[in-house]
Amino acid sequence: PLVALVLAGGTGTRLYPASRSDRPKQFLSFGEDQSLLADTVDRVGFADETYVLTRESFADGVRERAPSAAVLTEPEPKDTGPALAYAAHRIREQVGDCVLLCLPSDHRITGPFAEVAHTAARVAVETEGLVTVGIEPDRPATGYGYIKPGPSKNGFAPVETFHEKPDRETAERYVREGFYWNAGLFAWTPTALLSAAESSPLAPMVDRLDGDPDAAFDAVDPVSIDYAVLEDAENAFIVPAALEWDDLGSWDAFERVLDNQDGNAVLGEAVTIDAEGNVLASDGHVSAVGVEDLVIASFDDRTLVVPKDEAQRVREVVAELRADG
Ligand code: GDD
Ligand code: MG
Repeated sequence: PLVALVLAGGTGTRLYPASRSDRPKQFLSFGEDQSLLADTVDRVGFADETYVLTRESFADGVRERAPSAAVLTEPEPKDTGPALAYAAHRIREQVGDCVLLCLPSDHRITGPFAEVAHTAARVAVETEGLVTVGIEPDRPATGYGYIKPGPSKNGFAPVETFHEKPDRETAERYVREGFYWNAGLFAWTPTALLSAAESSPLAPMVDRLDGDPDAAFDAVDPVSIDYAVLEDAENAFIVPAALEWDDLGSWDAFERVLDNQDGNAVLGEAVTIDAEGNVLASDGHVSAVGVEDLVIASFDDRTLVVPKDEAQRVREVVAELRADG
């Protein structure tokens, strides 16, 4: 069977103040009809079964937004490495051998998604390897993984190198050299993932998965699947895909998906006068006069202003707020 596994345990720190600890970004709709999470679950409607993996405190919110999916909860949020290994183990127990199609819940995707997903699943079975979907980059984004493909046949290629989140200069070189972005959409069998994880920083956790889940999570440090497994994997494959794809990771990404008002990206209502290149997002009303290339985001009683090209630094605000309790 083909089993979809939607990851919905992150909070979306960089989208503060729209996202908050009790209101992660996957629960938000950003101007569309339904939440990013509901969108993701609908997108994999062709799967035989769909699981959503999240943290305990989000479980009710997930059930509300994705009533057709089964909910798995993890003892602790420790990033995607532990999350994916744990889910592979649990789903193999419940369903038996299957192909897992793993999806983030923070993407906007248009194009032939089902076709791409079926190809990735086929390649996962054929190669018994770890399969990721590749997107052709249109800019040197530093928040993504970059993949150099080997010689391709039958719609896929071996991964020659995988470099997670390179610096700007390196990203520019990768774009010139025809690398792909890692879309964060993966296909593998639970067994393929767990055996790759055995020779990774996830090993101490994998060894304990038959026992108490709390102890298994205690045995591992937070790490993403990209750093833990994919960068060093010997048997990784890439399926290049012509999808319109956006990771709504930070406010600057909204420039590409929000309505344009006189050269500004607007969510909510705004007045703009001599203002250009701004992202203006609010649950109310924002006015911008004579400013350029800013993010102004205002939700509940909280306002954020940051230069658009420093939008990644919003995580520093959240870190500071958490430190203050
Ligand atoms: N269940 C669970 N538990 N889910 C998590 C956790 C966790 O601890 N941490 C993150 N997630 C979920 C997020 O909610 C998101 O849907 C997905 O996993 C990916 O996590 P991100 O934190 O958004 O990763 P990223 O965007 O920085 O990087 C990944 O995706 C990029 C493409 O969007 C990497 O795979 C990159 O290589 C890739 O280019
Ligand atoms: Mg992301």
